[in-house]
Amino acid sequence: MKKIIVTGALGQIGSELTVKLRDIYGEDNVLATDIRKPEDICGPFELLDVTDAKKMYELSKDFEADTMIHMAALLSATAEKNPLFAWNLNMGGLMNALEVSRELDLQFFTPSSIGAFGPSTPKDNTPQDTLQRPTTMYGVNKVAGELLCDYYFNRFGVDTRGVRFPGLISYATPPGGGTTDYAVDIYYKAVEQGRYTSYIAEGTYMDMMYMPDALQAIVNLMEADGSKLKHRNAFNISAMSFEPSQIAAEIKKHIPSFKMDYTVDPVRQAIADSWPNAIDSSAAVEEWGFKADFDLEKMTIDMLEKLKVKLNQKAIS
Ligand SMILES: NC(=O)c1ccc[n+]([C@@H]2O[C@H](COP(=O)([O-])OP(=O)(O)OC[C@H]3O[C@@H](n4cnc5c(N)ncnc54)[C@H](O)[C@@H]3O)[C@@H](O)[C@H]2O)c1
Repeated sequence: MKKIIVTGALGQIGSELTVKLRDIYGEDNVLATDIRKPEDICGPFELLDVTDAKKMYELSKDFEADTMIHMAALLSATAEKNPLFAWNLNMGGLMNALEVSRELDLQFFTPSSIGAFGPSTPKDNTPQDTLQRPTTMYGVNKVAGELLCDYYFNRFGVDTRGVRFPGLISYATPPGGGTTDYAVDIYYKAVEQGRYTSYIAEGTYMDMMYMPDALQAIVNLMEADGSKLKHRNAFNISAMSFEPSQIAAEIKKHIPSFKMDYTVDPVRQAIADSWPNAIDSSAAVEEWGFKADFDLEKMTIDMLEKLKVKLNQKAIS
């Protein structure tokens, strides 16, 4: 990775990833792109709608990119509201990004998700290679995307790589409409209001990861020796699995008056119920040394500290 173009660079992952990549590879070597303009422009930025194949090709060529990191997508809960739009953006954008990578010989990364699993997938210690019959449009897109990335490697030799991210938790940029967003929102509401109403029911376990571990995983996988990768795309990776009352209990250790109740959203609950409780990351550990530094306890301390500063407010205690 020396000259990197990032799509969807203003999103929850892209916004922090761009900063990290610029720290490592140099500000001028990372071109951030998105369909909307950033509030403050720092570093190279271009407007790019990923459904515009011609512009994607031209920007990549002019920048002399050797790597494409494709982040633009519609996430699970939003995709369920507009499935046709989701198909066109998620599949059309990915096909364009893969084609540009083939034409310009770019190394390629795009994330899949735990949403690529479905109700018939084994729920606990979900294997790397297992049944994938998702019941959401997002899941259908992600499975098709995993297969397409494998296809572009096998058929054309494009150096495609990817992970299945769990729910990602961060304080910098708000999440973009996923099912696991409650695990970000709960920290904001804890600091701002001292209480939270969860739309996910008690007892619903899902995999999660703190953003610094997710960003490091992308860099490590892209820098890994390709000859050691048996699975190139869609590596299961997870740092923790918890259900809403566990994250609430962790927050209570720091904000004793914190209270949580539940008003379950049937749409997002149904999506969560179709996903695994906890996935097995051992293929990623064996093939490229995946590791996560943050567990629920360590992440909670960091999130609350950072959010208190960000929201310029003392925690209710
Ligand atoms: N955040 C998570 O918890 C999570 C978990 C698993 C997988 N993922 C995957 O990671 C990737 C990035 O997710 P995210 O959380 O940063 O998403 P996000 O919704 O926060 O950001 C997506 C970005 O894409 C941009 N975008 C939308 N339509 C576009 C278009 N037509 N052209 C160009 N840009 C467009 C948006 O403006 C936004 O900045 C997605 O593929 C997502 O499925 C995310």
